[in-house]
Amino acid sequence: MENPSLVKMTTQTIRALKGQRAIVCVTAYDTPTAQCADAAGVDLLLVGDSVGNNVLGFANTVPVTLDMMVHHAAAVARARTEALVVADLPFGDAHLKPGDVVKSCRRLIQEGGVEAVKIEGGVTVAPVIARLVLAGIPVMGHIGLQPQQVNVLGGYRKFGQRVPEADALRADAEALERAGVFAIVAEMMDPRLAADLTRTLHVPVIGIGSGPDCDGQILVAHDILGMNEGAPSFAKAYANLRETMRAAFATYAAEVRGKIYPAAPAKSASSVEANK
Ligand code: KIV
Repeated sequence: MENPSLVKMTTQTIRALKGQRAIVCVTAYDTPTAQCADAAGVDLLLVGDSVGNNVLGFANTVPVTLDMMVHHAAAVARARTEALVVADLPFGDAHLKPGDVVKSCRRLIQEGGVEAVKIEGGVTVAPVIARLVLAGIPVMGHIGLQPQQVNVLGGYRKFGQRVPEADALRADAEALERAGVFAIVAEMMDPRLAADLTRTLHVPVIGIGSGPDCDGQILVAHDILGMNEGAPSFAKAYANLRETMRAAFATYAAEVRGKIYPAAPAKSASSVEANK
């Protein structure tokens, strides 16, 4: 079901959707993508730090800075969507001194124009998240695979398949809920654990590569649109824009070289007259 009444989504309405219907979330890094997703009735737009690998040519999200996030957040916010707009706090910023974390989030909200921030991490970042919420900054949690940890992990993998890790993830999720997050992204989590957290937490669990039994799903827009060559196996492409774009550029190039585009201007009667 689309966002039928096109009501403005807030952190409160997203929270209230738990148990009512599936919550639909996608990434957006620019104005036209945000407008299209919003017109399609998406509930939440994430200005993800995945802008680094999907748009800016980086290998992962680690090189993405706060300035880059503010720049892309502002482009999405200018789409003035009904969807809630959330931006990622980039690599390292959640581990600054608490006052500096508040400053970074203030930039995303005041300069970037987003309505909430997303922060990777569980128990270790819960205290700073509690402080942000008290300061009036809504926060979405993010546990399971945390792409900002790629250099520690040495790659991407599934999380929570064994008991100690599943217990630690449960503790992370509960700490985030106590800290006041309005929703939690569960990335690449064992589907049974994601389903269990969805059942037991009071806030919505938004899955990505974590199975069907979450309160909602999030995917990277470029994966949905078929623009990524190396999309993860759990993602589903609903279009093949990479091929559509290649074909359009090839046709344009052929028409310019063949002198088909631009077409010769039609001669009006008066200019024909003047040339006599
Ligand atoms: O940055 C991002 O795109 C994300 C989603 C994958 C959840 O964090």
